[in-house]
Amino acid sequence: MKVICTHQALSKVKADVLILGGREDDSVWPFVDREEIGGGFATSVARKDFAGKTGQSLLLFAATEAATQRVLLIGLGEASGREAIRKALGGAVNLLRTQGYRRVAVALETLSDDGIETAAVAQLVVETVVLAYYRFDAFNKEKAAAPAAPRELVLVAPNASTENAARVAGGRGRIVAESTNFARDLQNQPGNLLTPKKLAGVARSLAKRGNLKIKVLGEPEMQGLKMGALLGVAKGSAEPARFIVLEHNREAKSKGTTVLVGKGITFDTGGISLKPSDKMEEMKFDMSGAAAVLGTLKAVAELQLPKHVVGLIPTAENMPGSAAVRPGDILTASDGTTIEVGNTDAEGRLVLADALVYARRFKPQAVIDLATLTGAVVLALGHHRTGLMANAPDLAGALKSAGDRAGEKLWQLPLTQEYYDDIKGDYADIKNSAGRPGSVITAAAFLGTFARDFDWAHLDIAGTAWTNSNKDCFEKGGTGVGVRLLVEFLSGQSVSL
Ligand code: BES
Ligand code: MN
Ligand code: ZN
Repeated sequence: MKVICTHQALSKVKADVLILGGREDDSVWPFVDREEIGGGFATSVARKDFAGKTGQSLLLFAATEAATQRVLLIGLGEASGREAIRKALGGAVNLLRTQGYRRVAVALETLSDDGIETAAVAQLVVETVVLAYYRFDAFNKEKAAAPAAPRELVLVAPNASTENAARVAGGRGRIVAESTNFARDLQNQPGNLLTPKKLAGVARSLAKRGNLKIKVLGEPEMQGLKMGALLGVAKGSAEPARFIVLEHNREAKSKGTTVLVGKGITFDTGGISLKPSDKMEEMKFDMSGAAAVLGTLKAVAELQLPKHVVGLIPTAENMPGSAAVRPGDILTASDGTTIEVGNTDAEGRLVLADALVYARRFKPQAVIDLATLTGAVVLALGHHRTGLMANAPDLAGALKSAGDRAGEKLWQLPLTQEYYDDIKGDYADIKNSAGRPGSVITAAAFLGTFARDFDWAHLDIAGTAWTNSNKDCFEKGGTGVGVRLLVEFLSGQSVSL
C-alpha cells in the first residue's frame, strides 16, 4: 500500500472514501465544518444517527459532485486514545474491505486529541489500516478472489508544518505493519511447508534484500559447537535443524548490541510426551518467536536503525520419531550444563538454551527472547497480554513502555531465586520440567540459567501470537506479535544514544 501525505482542504482530497473520526463529546459534525467537505453531505445527520460512540459508524454519500463521493464517520468513544483509534479504524476497514476501494483517505486531525502528536497518529493510522487489510489467502481461492486492499492510503494532515512529520511517521508505520504482516505470513504457513530448512531459506532471501549479514548453521556445525539441547530436540524428526544468525549494522557495534532470540519450532507434537490431538494443529504457530525476530530485522533494516541488532533463531521440528529424545534422557547444552528431560514437550527452552549461550559471543547490551513457551501463560494472562520476565529491571521497564506505545501490552511476572531452585535437577544440573506450579516462571528460570553475563528479558507470547477469531485489526491466525513492540523499543533506544 502506498502512503501519501497532504494538507489539502478536505473538500479537495480526492479519494473513494474519506474517513473522519468523531468523539462522544463532539456535537454533530464539530470535528470538521460541513462546508469544508463540500458535496452537500447529509446536512441532516443528527446525534441519533451518529453519536461518536465506540464501534459506531455511518457511511454518507455526497448529494452533489465532490472530490470524494463518500465519507465514513467512525466513533472513537469518550476519548480518542491510541486504543480507541485502533479499534475504530480496524472496524472501518472491515466495513470497507468488501468494496474494493482503490484510494482511502483519513483526516488525521479528526482522530487525534491533545494527548497525541499528529505524527504518532499518522503512524498508528497506517499500521492499523495495513494490518487490518491483511489476509492470508495463499491457499484459499475464495479469499484470494476477494477485492484487493486499496492501492493508496492518503493521510490528510491539519497543516503544512505537521505534514512532513506525518509523512515520515506514515512511512515508518507502513514498514512496521508490512514487516508484521511478513511475520504473519510465516506463522500462518503450515508445518509441512514451513520446515526449519525452509525458514532458513526465508531468512536468506530476507538478508539479501535487506542488506543483512547471515549465517546458517547445519547440524554438523551445531555438533561442532556441542549444541546438545537443540540437537536433542531435532532428533525425533526427519527434518534437520538449523541455527540462523542474522545481523544488522555491525558498524554500530561500539554503541551496544541487542540480540533478539526467537523460538523456531516449526511444529510441536510434544515428541514422545505427545500432545493430545485437540488443537494440536495450532502448534504450527510454535515458530512465532522466530517470525517476530525475522519481521523485526526486516523492519530494522528498512528503517536503517543506527543500531547493531542480531537475530538468533534455533529452529527444529518436535516429533516423536524413533530416534527421538526420551523422558529421562540427559542432554548437554553448549555451555556444558547437563539437562534432564522430564518432558519432551518442554522443547522450546531446550532449543533456546543453546541460542542464549551463543548470544554471549556478541557481548550484548541486552538480549530479548520471544517464545510460545508455555500453555500456562494463556491461563494466567489470556490473550490480552504477553508475559514478561527479566533479570534486569531497566530493560523490563523499557519494554513495558514500548509495549504500551506500540499496542502490544506486557505483564511482568516475578523471576526470583525460588523459581531457579524449582528447576534444579536430580540426575543432572537442571531439569526441563518442574511440574505445573508457577510453570510460566520456571520455564523462564530455565532460560535465565543460560542468560548469564548480560541483561535479558523473556517474552512468553503463547497467548498473543495468534488469534482464534477475527478481532480488531487481526483476522484469525498469526498476529505478528513482537514486531511492533521491538521496533518501538529499538527506535526508542537509538534515539537516546
Ligand atoms: N509450544 C508449547 C506451548 C504452548 C502450548 C503454546 C499451547 C501455546 C498453546 C510448549 O512447547 C509446551 O508444550 N509447553 C509445555 C511445557 C510443559 C511440558 C512443562 C506446556 O505448556 O504444557
Ligand atoms: Mn512443547
Ligand atoms: Zn513448543
